[in-house]
Amino acid sequence: MGLIRFLRGAKLLGQTNEIPGKSLVEHAYEANVDIPTNCTSGNCGSCMVTLLSGKVSLPDPLTPGLDDEIVEEGARLGCIGIPTGDVDIDILPPI
Ligand code: FES
Repeated sequence: MGLIRFLRGAKLLGQTNEIPGKSLVEHAYEANVDIPTNCTSGNCGSCMVTLLSGKVSLPDPLTPGLDDEIVEEGARLGCIGIPTGDVDIDILPPI
């Protein structure tokens, strides 16, 4: 079972155990961390966070909230990204 941690810079904001099949936003809620959301369907990018380490699923094909370049920088969408295993997330977008 993975540990999902939410950071802002070097500061740990909260953490929770992996809940299989649940999104990053749902994990953040369990960890008492707020990730802003709007569309909750991968289109607006409001919930964009940065993957620091570990695995978070990406939509295939990418939804309008993401593009290849920003994904390279570590961008993931909190509303639809599913973490697996130990994952560290910075709650701010990469750029
Ligand atoms: S809330 Fe719109 S992309 Fe996640």
